[in-house]
Amino acid sequence: MSEPTLLVASNRGPLSFVESDDGSLLPSRGGGGLVSGLSGLGASDSQQVVWVCAALTDGDRAAARQAPGGRLDRAGHDTAGTAVRMLDIDPTTFHRAYNAIANSTLWFIHHLLYATPTAPNFDAGFRREWASYVAYNRAFAEALAEDAAEGAKVLVQDYHLTLLPRQLRDLRPDLRIAHFSHTPWAPVDYFRLLPADVARDTLLGMLGADHAGFHSPRWARAFAACCAEVLGAEIGGDDDMNVSYAGRTTHLGVHPLGVDAESLRARAHEDDVESRVTALRRKLEDRQAIIRVDRTELSKNIGRGLLAYRELLRRYPQWLGKVTHLASAYPSRHDLPEYREYTAHVQRLAADIEDEFGTDDWRPLILTVTDDYARSLALYRVGDVLLVNPVRDGMNLVAKEVPVLSEDGCVVVLSTEAGVADEFGDDALLVNPFDISGTADALHAALSMSGDERRDRTVRLAAASTALPPARWLSDQLDAI
Ligand code: G6P
Repeated sequence: MSEPTLLVASNRGPLSFVESDDGSLLPSRGGGGLVSGLSGLGASDSQQVVWVCAALTDGDRAAARQAPGGRLDRAGHDTAGTAVRMLDIDPTTFHRAYNAIANSTLWFIHHLLYATPTAPNFDAGFRREWASYVAYNRAFAEALAEDAAEGAKVLVQDYHLTLLPRQLRDLRPDLRIAHFSHTPWAPVDYFRLLPADVARDTLLGMLGADHAGFHSPRWARAFAACCAEVLGAEIGGDDDMNVSYAGRTTHLGVHPLGVDAESLRARAHEDDVESRVTALRRKLEDRQAIIRVDRTELSKNIGRGLLAYRELLRRYPQWLGKVTHLASAYPSRHDLPEYREYTAHVQRLAADIEDEFGTDDWRPLILTVTDDYARSLALYRVGDVLLVNPVRDGMNLVAKEVPVLSEDGCVVVLSTEAGVADEFGDDALLVNPFDISGTADALHAALSMSGDERRDRTVRLAAASTALPPARWLSDQLDAI
């Protein structure tokens, strides 16, 4: 095989392995837009694609150890034609880099999640964690530097790998490097909660890239502002999208990832989804359904969504018995205590609402905490109102998938703080995610909306959602470098 000309780097890769009882390793395909986008690019004789990722599970580590350098045998793996190199990073280093820095520090900074009277606390323990994050990024840089063909393109994903572009450029100045942030970017005053050297190194790391992509102009502008104020970088070019520092320029790009409508619709009409649609319709009878589908993630604001629903039922009693809230909050990042506590908080709120309003023949709220993708797709098809109210969100793919799958029109009640709000504008009902009363009013307006208006809005939202399908999202970034 010739050397790869296109390399992708992300923490979570396109494959995962589970150790079965007899000791064999069973692979499963990772989901997500990136995998389907890569299939659009098509690996060929002239283009070898390698995806470098971390081993996340014990099964992954075993698979990575069995393969030389973690370069997995491609046979039998459905990864859209890419080869996979899985890095077996020492578990302590990985835990500190992934849980402590990426998910508990950078994620919190970009989503404004700290309760500042008590957190963050940057102490000696943090310094050890940060050193692990540096080492974890370096492991990726070394693997990429080793594998990439001369002049190859490298697409680096997300906040796990902010230092990688600089480290890789130092090793291989010939490469063309793009970074993409799927998260928001913090406003400069909040970004400055980070210790000065950490803030600086994070920005310098990103500026090792030729191109830094974001889902929304807001996040790109926030990144530029951090570079200007923390580093003293110069901002210029069209739309102030060039960041120049120490003789190099990184171009910023806005690439709001969209939905591949055809494959999503095909998946949403498979038998497992059909049977769930039938069951849901039976359960709903003629009631309207307010749906939400999220990972149980602090930034998703599920708690305030439930409080808004409770206020809706209290202030607009005409909906008692006429609406069901189907809330799906599937598990996420349960290694972190904040996430376990948050899940318990959401479950308590849900139980309170059921106690307050439930009757013998009406369940006001059905909260599901298991991950069932087919059920989520069924909800997308039958929902009348979708609630997406994150505190902050890089984009929010659910908001884009529902209009594509909705059968009879679905009103989207949407946080102004989700990246997708830029694209949807007033075709959604925009809410301040902290304004519980405002969210309750928006839910009432959505439930009261005529069928024609719902359908018209949904058609426009579906068009916005499919404007930049994954294959083009990827090729635009490749063209940019
Ligand atoms: C969300 C974010 C991505 C991020 C991912 C990590 O999907 O939008 O930006 O990469 O979470 O999730 P994980 O489960 O791998 O921690």
